[in-house]
Amino acid sequence: MRLTLRLTSVLAAAVFSLTATRTHAQQAQQPFILNNEFPTQGDAFYEFKWPVKKVAIIGAGAGGLISYRTLSQAGYEVLLYERDHHPGGNWHYTEETPPDAPIPNLDPAIADFVPSLPPKGITLPFEEVYDLEDVGREKRAFRAPKPIWRGLRSNAPKVIQQIRELPWPEDLSWDISAIQLQGYLRAFASYHGINANDENPNVFYNTRVELVEKRYDTNTGEHRGWRLTLKEFKQIGSKSVKARWWTEDVDAVVIASGRYNAPNVPGIPGLDEWNAKFPGSVTHSRVYKTPEEYENKTVLIIGAATSGAEISGIINPYAKKVYLSNRGHHDPHYQYPWDIFLTYVPDNVTFVPEIKAFHPANSAKESIIEFVNGTKLTGIDRVISSTGYRYSFPFFPQYHDTSLGDNETASEGPQPLVTDGSHIRSLHLDLVYIEEPTIAFINMNLGIQSFTYSEYQAAALASVWKGQAKIPTQERMWELFEKRLEEFGGAFDKHWLYLGTDGTQGV
Ligand SMILES: Cc1cc2nc3c(=O)[nH]c(=O)nc-3n(C[C@H](O)[C@H](O)[C@H](O)COP(=O)(O)OP(=O)(O)OC[C@H]3O[C@@H](n4cnc5c(N)ncnc54)[C@H](O)[C@@H]3O)c2cc1C
Ligand SMILES: *[C@@H]1O[C@H](CO)[C@@H](O)[C@H](O)[C@H]1NC(C)=O
Ligand SMILES: *[C@@H]1O[C@H](CO)[C@@H](O)[C@H](O)[C@H]1NC(C)=O
Ligand SMILES: *[C@@H]1O[C@H](CO)[C@@H](O)[C@H](O)[C@H]1NC(C)=O
Ligand SMILES: *[C@@H]1O[C@H](CO)[C@@H](O)[C@H](O)[C@H]1NC(C)=O
Repeated sequence: MRLTLRLTSVLAAAVFSLTATRTHAQQAQQPFILNNEFPTQGDAFYEFKWPVKKVAIIGAGAGGLISYRTLSQAGYEVLLYERDHHPGGNWHYTEETPPDAPIPNLDPAIADFVPSLPPKGITLPFEEVYDLEDVGREKRAFRAPKPIWRGLRSNAPKVIQQIRELPWPEDLSWDISAIQLQGYLRAFASYHGINANDENPNVFYNTRVELVEKRYDTNTGEHRGWRLTLKEFKQIGSKSVKARWWTEDVDAVVIASGRYNAPNVPGIPGLDEWNAKFPGSVTHSRVYKTPEEYENKTVLIIGAATSGAEISGIINPYAKKVYLSNRGHHDPHYQYPWDIFLTYVPDNVTFVPEIKAFHPANSAKESIIEFVNGTKLTGIDRVISSTGYRYSFPFFPQYHDTSLGDNETASEGPQPLVTDGSHIRSLHLDLVYIEEPTIAFINMNLGIQSFTYSEYQAAALASVWKGQAKIPTQERMWELFEKRLEEFGGAFDKHWLYLGTDGTQGV
């Protein structure tokens, strides 16, 4: 079924219309309603329970940096937190690798990281200095080196991977390199005084948001904004580190923490046993950096989407043989031309069907891989799982509910944001949490270019939180949500947040 919610164009039109028709709306005493039935005016709208003045942003990737610029220019007091020591998020390339992907998958609530909270009952801020055997490993676990690899070039034309005030040079080829994107985002951060060396008192690098909880007014006991528990983690000597925890109270939170943090490894029978028996032989594309380590190896790559297809081509001249397991994409929800990725795959990479089971024997080489069509394969040295990511917000344990699975509705309490990790639910326009519209998400969609898109999302938030644009009542937002879910097919899956560049959601 084809859905015709043209969300990108709606957001764009909404933001445009805010500037263009606000005067008209004000004159007519008719607030503009940010809705997916644009334009809808005259409806009842959501009333924020407290004024939004102070906003925290989680993440200094493209989305967080753009949000910082937009919200601070709109007059909000903005605080920015980034666990890495640099801005740029996904585009901050180093050859350091994150810890290997757990096999089997962890619960999505802790799949990105396990929150590190200060000792219970301690007065904050609390600071601890201690020695570590392997400082590098702990630092990597904290900052989570980003999942791109050496030589990566953008697969999006530069015009849609551009920030308004910083046009790319015209003569630059359109497939910009990761290194150029990294420099670009650093330049953008510097331009706005929010780079790591700007000593901006509102910007915190090496700082992870560990927990976001409701903050209650001490006099009235009412829910009024959010309390963040923050941890700064820094190396101060060859073996010694300093950890510092503190809290910060804000009126609203922008979650721009990225969607490529928690690796997904499929639960193929025997894979966890194989991994336990032959440590280091199975890895996730998140950890893949350079091809040299695959020299003379026979490699099986699971998953032939963007990463798997590209990695197969890069390691191919080094490896002895490369197999690429392609499940095929017959998903009716997906209209993306998947085969486009396969153009990266050289002729001498061997396609194999979906894997049915791993049968570990005495060594990886002797072990058997069984495919769904009944054929078997041996002689594999290394397996790379290029099988995507899951949504994981460890600072929000209260809004994760793994038990719910595909069920649309939790029986009591607030509707969760994340269940099995394949999607985020309970959002209005994929942007604000219907239960708590002072919580917003930036860039969580698939299929849309995040630089341009976050400009619109941040502009929409700046207007909504000021009351210049309105969102519908919670009841109406749920109605719209249910309607969209019904049109989508009645159950969530990983394409729930798919947003094509033509503005379509779903197929
Ligand atoms: C292999 C690969 C290739 C890609 N290629 C392209 C491409 O060619 N073109 C394209 O447009 N997009 C591409 N993308 C998508 C890319 O993620 C986006 O372009 C863009 O980087 C998203 O920006 P973001 O700010 O939303 O998230 P990110 O860039 O992921 O930034 C999120 C930031 O939040 C920080 N963070 C997370 N949790 C916390 C916390 N609890 N506390 C503090 N900080 C936190 C992270 O450290 C990170 O710096 C690719 C992604 C991958 C994985
Ligand atoms: C790979 O094989 C070639 C040819 O046998 C050999 O020269 C080379 O040293 C091998 N490389 C590694 C890393 O084993
Ligand atoms: C595939 O072919 C290319 C080009 O001839 C060659 O460089 C590469 O080594 C081959 N790879 C394998 C795994 O045979
Ligand atoms: C199974 O798939 C492999 C790889 O595509 C192919 O070579 C083989 O012929 C197939 N076997 C059967 C029984 O279809
Ligand atoms: C979904 O949740 C509702 C409400 O708790 C419950 O009645 C229903 O049985 C659940 N369905 C499934 C498939 O779990």
